Amino acid sequence: MRKAILAITALGAAVALSAAGCSSSKSNSSGSTTGGSSSTSSAASGSSSSSSGTPHYTNNKVGVLLPDTNSSPRWVNSDPNELKTQCDSLGLVCDIQNANGSATTQTTQAQSMLNEGVGVLMIVNLDSGSAKAIEAQAQAKGVVTIDYDRLTLGGSAQYYVSFDNTAVGTLQGNALVKCPQVASKTAVKYVEEDGAATDNNATLFKQGYDGVLSKQAGWTKAGEQSGNWDNPAGTAQSTFQKLLQGAPDLNAVMVANDEMANAVITVLKQQGLNGKVAVSGQDATATGLQNILTGDQCFTIYKPVKGEADVAVKLASQILSGQKPTAPATVKDSTGNRDVPSYLATPVVVDKTNITLPFTDGYQKASDVCTGDFAAKCTAAGIK
Ligand code: BGC
Repeated sequence: MRKAILAITALGAAVALSAAGCSSSKSNSSGSTTGGSSSTSSAASGSSSSSSGTPHYTNNKVGVLLPDTNSSPRWVNSDPNELKTQCDSLGLVCDIQNANGSATTQTTQAQSMLNEGVGVLMIVNLDSGSAKAIEAQAQAKGVVTIDYDRLTLGGSAQYYVSFDNTAVGTLQGNALVKCPQVASKTAVKYVEEDGAATDNNATLFKQGYDGVLSKQAGWTKAGEQSGNWDNPAGTAQSTFQKLLQGAPDLNAVMVANDEMANAVITVLKQQGLNGKVAVSGQDATATGLQNILTGDQCFTIYKPVKGEADVAVKLASQILSGQKPTAPATVKDSTGNRDVPSYLATPVVVDKTNITLPFTDGYQKASDVCTGDFAAKCTAAGIK
C-alpha cells in the first residue's frame, strides 16, 4: 500500500529553477515533432505552488534506477550527483540506486521503490524487456514512470527525458570527418564499434553517424561490431582487436563512447597507431578528455547533465504536485507504436578547440583530468 505523504517543503525559490535545459525541443529522424517553447512555460508555471513558490506534494518520493557503474562514469558521478542536488532543492526525497549491470537487480530495486511508495519512478533501462515489465508494475500501482536517457521500447513510460540521440550520432559523424587524420584524405577506411544492441540510444547514435559517414565521398566501412558498452574490462578491447586485424590500414574508428574509445586507443597504442587514427567518443569523461589532450582521441560529445537531470527532476516535481506537463517533443517508440512525450536536450562536440567547456560548466574537475603528465597539457589548453 502506498503511503501518502503530505510534504510541505521548506525550500523557497526552488521552483524558480531555470528551464534552460528544456530548450532543445528538436525533432529527430525517427519522426518526433517540435513543440517550441510550450513546455518551458508549462514547466515554469507551477499552478499548485504556494505563495512562496514551494510545490505542495501529496507524495514527494521519487525512485531513480541507474544502469551500471562501468559503461560510463556518468552513472557513478554526474547523473546521480546532479539528480540528488535537484531533488534536494525541490524538496523531493529521491531514492537513487544503481543496478550494476544486472536487470534482475534493477527489477528488485524497482519493486522495493514501489513498495516504499514512490510517486514517480525514473528508469535508465538495461534492456527494453525488463524495463517494460517494471513500468507495467508501476502503472498497476498508479506510479508515473519517466524513461531517463534510454527509451524503453514497448514500454509505458509517460515521459522520456534525454538528449537528442540521433543528433548525438550526427555530431559524431560530422566531427569524425573533420579530424586532422582524415580531413584532407581522398580515401578513408573506417570501422564502427557501436554501443549495446539492447540500448535504443545505440541504434539512434548509429542512425546519426551512419547518415553522415555512408554518404561521405571516399569513405569505406571496413568492419562493424557492437561493443556492448563495455569498457576495457569487458569486450570492447578484444572487439576492436578483431576489427583492426580485418583492417590494419584503417584511418578512422567511429566508436560510440569515451570508455570504449579508451579501449580502442589501448589497442592502437600497442600497434604504435595512436594519434595516427581518428577516434571518436562521447560523454566528456575524464579519460576521454585526457585522450583528447594527448591527441589520441579527436573529440567527444559533451552532454551537459543539467539539461537532462534537472529537467527530469523538475518534471517529477510537477507530476507530484498534480500537474500534467506538456512535453515539447515526442520520440517514436517503434515497438510500442506510440509517440512518447519527450524533453530532449542538445549535445555539444568538444575537441581541442573548446576543451575548457566541460570545466567552466562545472561538469568536470581539473583535479580529475589534469593529473601527472596531464597537468602541463591542461595548462597549455587553458584548463584551470
Ligand atoms: C548513454 C551514453 C552512455 C552509454 C553507456 C547510453 O545510453 O546515452 O551517455 O555512454 O549509454 O552507458
